[in-house]
Amino acid sequence: MCGIVGAIAGRNISAILLEGLKRLEYRGYDSAGMAVLNSQTGQLDHLKRVGKVAQLDAALTGSPLPGYLGIAHTRWATHGKPEQRNAHPHLSADRIAVVHNGIIENHTALKAELVADGYQFLSDTDTEVVTHLIYREVMAGKSLEVALKESLKRLDGAYALAVIDQQQPDLLLATRMGSPLVIGVGVEENFIASDPLALLQVTDRFIYLEEGDVAAITRSDIKVESLAGEPVTREVQRFEHGHDAADKGLYRHYMLKEIYEQPDVIARVLEGRIHQGHVLEQVFGSGASELFDQVKMVQIVACGTSYNAGVVARYWIEKLVGIPCMVEVASEFRYRKTVCMPGTLFITISQSGETADTLSALREAKEQSYLGFLSICNVAGSSLVRESDLAIMTNAGPEIGVASTKAFTSQLVVLMLTTLVLARRYGFDDEQEIVAQLEQLIGLTEQVLALDPQIQKMAEHFVDKHHALFLGRGTIYPVAVEGALKLKEISYIHAEAYPAGELKHGPLALVDEDMPVVAIAPNNSLLEKLQANLEEVRARGGKLFLFADSKAQVKPGNDLELITLPDVPTVMAPIIYSIPLQLLAYYVACLKGTDVDQPRNLAKSVTVE
Ligand code: AGP
Repeated sequence: MCGIVGAIAGRNISAILLEGLKRLEYRGYDSAGMAVLNSQTGQLDHLKRVGKVAQLDAALTGSPLPGYLGIAHTRWATHGKPEQRNAHPHLSADRIAVVHNGIIENHTALKAELVADGYQFLSDTDTEVVTHLIYREVMAGKSLEVALKESLKRLDGAYALAVIDQQQPDLLLATRMGSPLVIGVGVEENFIASDPLALLQVTDRFIYLEEGDVAAITRSDIKVESLAGEPVTREVQRFEHGHDAADKGLYRHYMLKEIYEQPDVIARVLEGRIHQGHVLEQVFGSGASELFDQVKMVQIVACGTSYNAGVVARYWIEKLVGIPCMVEVASEFRYRKTVCMPGTLFITISQSGETADTLSALREAKEQSYLGFLSICNVAGSSLVRESDLAIMTNAGPEIGVASTKAFTSQLVVLMLTTLVLARRYGFDDEQEIVAQLEQLIGLTEQVLALDPQIQKMAEHFVDKHHALFLGRGTIYPVAVEGALKLKEISYIHAEAYPAGELKHGPLALVDEDMPVVAIAPNNSLLEKLQANLEEVRARGGKLFLFADSKAQVKPGNDLELITLPDVPTVMAPIIYSIPLQLLAYYVACLKGTDVDQPRNLAKSVTVE
């Protein structure tokens, strides 16, 4: 989704802005732009291009934007088509320039008011109203800071905003409400971005702005205030991941790199969380034990891949803890009347911690009488983490590929840790055994990655297909859903997942030689039933692509492609079996030549509704 970068320095900042935009490309966007206060002419120059940052880069070669103060943006169209005039920054009277992430919901009314006041609009965006509002306040004699605050009071909706004024060469303003924004702290220079990854080339020290913060940034000073003008203190935090985290190294795509990182990621998730075969409760945050003591029920809310991880956890929690667990997609939960039973722990799962629907669902839930709020998240300073009572990080490191891979497996491992700390309160006494199995995951994951050449070969069967069915049962059903999501997301093949028992209730009608059926069949109590379902597919001329272990008893035949995985403990199967499905989707997409890391129409972090 949209990305923001800004800089104020004693050196030319346009290359820094451009590099920042390149680092934000993974978020998904359709146009890019930059505004810089020209250090020679004193003019506010800007350049915008539809398409990739490379197009903006090429345009900058012909028309460089030298200067010490500037803002830049990648836009993912919400209001108005991806056209140059709709790209950010937006300017008012060539004096005020603004970049914006989020949505201004009352922009229509504000636009009418500004048009009546004589302002001309050059774009179809919601953002342009902000630019003119600020300009109008400045022209009424207010300082830029006051003009921004007065304008913010008029806005309904979500925003992260960066503002510069052609007549204020030593001031960069930044504010957020509902969309993330960080300040990158340098030496005699400072930066802003919607994601710290954009700035790792220039700093590893960050201030994470909180809701309603307004920051006035100069080269040597950072002042943060609330909207009401109260000074607030925000600590400077070091970015915890290595500088190469945002680099794809020798891999062809970030997605492949991230799939291959999974053994290390699982090791990192477990590190410091286990002691003598037991999960340490303090890793969930202070007060966790007291809260967990009172849990009688769990409500999980998330979106996309994170939701699929939540569905796996429902099976685990109901089986190992023995308490009810409900899971719902956040975009539904937030808008319906829900009933909160006493003693319910509310868990949100999110890679980014900034997904608008998940965040809103959390805020809605906070209006009800939930026992407490736990966030399972990959980004430490994110809104979700800050707004939850308890948080546990998935430690997957930055995930750049739009299709979630390592985030999913790390979420599953954390969800198993969560299951264990709850289960011990309900008399579960196999914790040490499960912990030992978690520790074996690292080696098992490596073995599964070694199946890469076989999976690559299997992918060839999918290239000319338009549809695919994925089947699983029990904890493997959500793994099938996740496998189908991966395939559709990056290869654009229509893929649906069903619990295999549902086949004959409808989807079997779709089965023919043009409908590949991917079945995930680890050895578990439902294996025999699943095998019967698979024979139903073969009897109708369907071709099976089977991921199973040595226990699977399936008749060989031309209608079967089998990949044999190592034997894994039943409870760990969802984690292990998700990996070959990620590789399958990846290789199908590569063969089809799609943009694997930035699939069409999708954004990494969905910060608007
Ligand atoms: C997964 O491959 C996705 N691109 C998407 O479904 C994602 O999982 C979803 O948008 C939720 O994001 P979050 O984990 O950052 O909240």
